[in-house]
Amino acid sequence: MAFKIALLMMYFLVCPVTSEELGFKYNGFWLANMNLDGLAVITSGGLLKLTDTTKQGQGHAFYPSPINFKNSNGSAYSFSTCFVFAIESRYRELSGEGMAFVIAPTRGLQGALPNEFLGLFNETNNGNSSNHVFAVELDTIKNTEFGDINFNHVGIDINGLESKVSKPAGYYANGNSVFHDLTLFCGKPIQVWVEYDGLAKKISVTLAPLKANKPNTPLLSLSYDLSPILKQTMYVGFTSTTGPVLSSSHYVMGWSFRMNGIAEGLDISRLPKLPSEKSKFLTIGLPIISSVILLTAILAVTYYMKWMKKKYAEELEDWELEYGPHRFKYKDLYIATKGFRDKELLGSGGFGRVYRGLLPTSKIQVAVKRVSHESRQGMREFVAEIASLGRLRHRNLVPLLGYCRRKGELLLVYENMPNGSLDKCLYGQPNISLNWDQRFHVIKGVASGLIYLHEEWEQAVVHRDVKASNVLLDGELNGRLGDFGLARLYDHGSDPRTTRVVGTLGYLAPEHARSGKASTSTDVYAFGAFLLEVGCGRRPIEPRAPTEEIVMVNWVFSNWSRGEILQAIDPKLGYDYVKEEVELVLKLGLLCSHSEAVARPNMRQILLYLEGAAAPPDISSLRISATGLTFAHAEGFDDFNNSDGNSSSVAASLLSGGR
Ligand SMILES: *[C@@H]1O[C@H](CO)[C@@H](O)[C@H](O)[C@H]1NC(C)=O
Ligand SMILES: *[C@@H]1O[C@H](CO)[C@@H](O)[C@H](O)[C@H]1NC(C)=O
Ligand SMILES: *[C@@H]1O[C@H](CO)[C@@H](O)[C@H](O)[C@H]1NC(C)=O
Repeated sequence: MAFKIALLMMYFLVCPVTSEELGFKYNGFWLANMNLDGLAVITSGGLLKLTDTTKQGQGHAFYPSPINFKNSNGSAYSFSTCFVFAIESRYRELSGEGMAFVIAPTRGLQGALPNEFLGLFNETNNGNSSNHVFAVELDTIKNTEFGDINFNHVGIDINGLESKVSKPAGYYANGNSVFHDLTLFCGKPIQVWVEYDGLAKKISVTLAPLKANKPNTPLLSLSYDLSPILKQTMYVGFTSTTGPVLSSSHYVMGWSFRMNGIAEGLDISRLPKLPSEKSKFLTIGLPIISSVILLTAILAVTYYMKWMKKKYAEELEDWELEYGPHRFKYKDLYIATKGFRDKELLGSGGFGRVYRGLLPTSKIQVAVKRVSHESRQGMREFVAEIASLGRLRHRNLVPLLGYCRRKGELLLVYENMPNGSLDKCLYGQPNISLNWDQRFHVIKGVASGLIYLHEEWEQAVVHRDVKASNVLLDGELNGRLGDFGLARLYDHGSDPRTTRVVGTLGYLAPEHARSGKASTSTDVYAFGAFLLEVGCGRRPIEPRAPTEEIVMVNWVFSNWSRGEILQAIDPKLGYDYVKEEVELVLKLGLLCSHSEAVARPNMRQILLYLEGAAAPPDISSLRISATGLTFAHAEGFDDFNNSDGNSSSVAASLLSGGR
């Protein structure tokens, strides 16, 4: 039994369809059993897609069974077929190769070539009568070698690509017989009817847009006996190719065929949809929505990038490349300081605000100083100096790690000092309060830091702003000078015609205030004020103090002249101090405050005195008086408005202020 069924099946598979009335109809190819090769596929949407946009490809699709085309007398039967096709080209004005309806002796057209050969023939067999091929070409390329009339024509081909008859694609509308052009590759469905009248030996080909009725007047009519062309059994199907440059997608949406009769009309409403007309939403809505989303995304990204670029913008010039190791990325500093937020603010000094930060990659704790700097003048020299200052390394200097430049702004990156600045320890914001030993240690440290700057570096570096708030305490409570050399920023950046005095009231040597010129001696003067500051635990100028105590140096001097210098000592020290050391510090403070620069000791001498290696000169022997100690600060005192006494740095116009 099973054997019989197998035999029966084999019979149906190999045996030609003998019925003279054979007919089939596919409204879409969902259920069609087509014999496909090359690029041809049946899409999930039910379309017979002969080619995609692969270059120089071809696709064939044949009705799988052989069909008997001739009667016993050997003359060809009448047949009729209609199909709906669409050619989608990427370009409006141009298309790749075309396609054809074909009746051939084999299902595959072996040896046929792509491109202009339409998957029908090759150079060797084109035009040979032994081909036994009948085709209706829907050609979208003008191939002059085959006598093509244009790039949008329909032709009847018999055994070769030189059409027996061809016309530009179009149709005669019913009623008025007006000819309407059709563009084969317009991407819209076009219906084609191919009919052969076996008695009249006449072939006709008719085209029309999908929704139009079948025109009464065919586009092509050819009287031709197909009997010698067609073999007894033949295969029917479609072929199409793509070109070497241009390629189009060729679709067949529905197909109806009948021997000896009129092919049943296709049910237009049931035809599958072309990809381009899938649904209004998919073809119009979705692209619009997705373009809008995409556009928005692109805009957002562009804006974000711009914003980021601006946010992290910095100025970098070729000449800075040599300072590479000292140059920081603004982005890194921004991240390190959490966007320079107030919570990370360590303090604001004369030159700008200082932020705590943690460098993203190296995880080094830093202090970032933002200095406003409008002038580009002298920037090169200044950066060179920063780089050079960056090479200054001493246990009593805060290491300057590098810098970054932005428009109008300069950022200086220092190693962070965990215990903050000395003035905070002195003036009642005690994270730690320093006892005398610690203070004395700090003083000696600052002194050796200054010696290093003044004498041990290749060129003398004048600090210009020595004061308690510029002395920072590292983890071991060593005093370290910060901000060294920075004052020169203002020299480089400022108009040379206006002399700007940089320093802090109360620490400013009289000749410095007069001439604007800083020297190692003016640093010594400031160091004197610093010594008194540490010993007395107060600022050089204390506006709220009783009149005779407002100016610290005057007050210490008056105590000294009464023989009671220790009266000036910081009460916070209690009795826990070494009397000789305190006396030494206060006396040195007075010595350094001498109005004559030449009368001041230098830093190396000062360190010797502090170390006890040498005895300081007796103040009485210098015969200084209160007027000999001097007080640039006293003169500028009226201008001094900073009631909390904090960082009145950058006394920009002491001289020009018209005292
Ligand atoms: C076959 O040929 C004979 C004689 O030529 C003719 O009488 C007959 O009608 C033909 N049959 C068909 C089906 O055409
Ligand atoms: C051309 O096609 C025929 C079959 O149709 C094949 O036998 C022949 O080899 C092909 N010639 C070339 C050059 O491909
Ligand atoms: C046509 O093809 C046949 C078989 O392939 C061949 O023998 C014959 O020479 C060809 N004729 C021409 C004119 O090329």
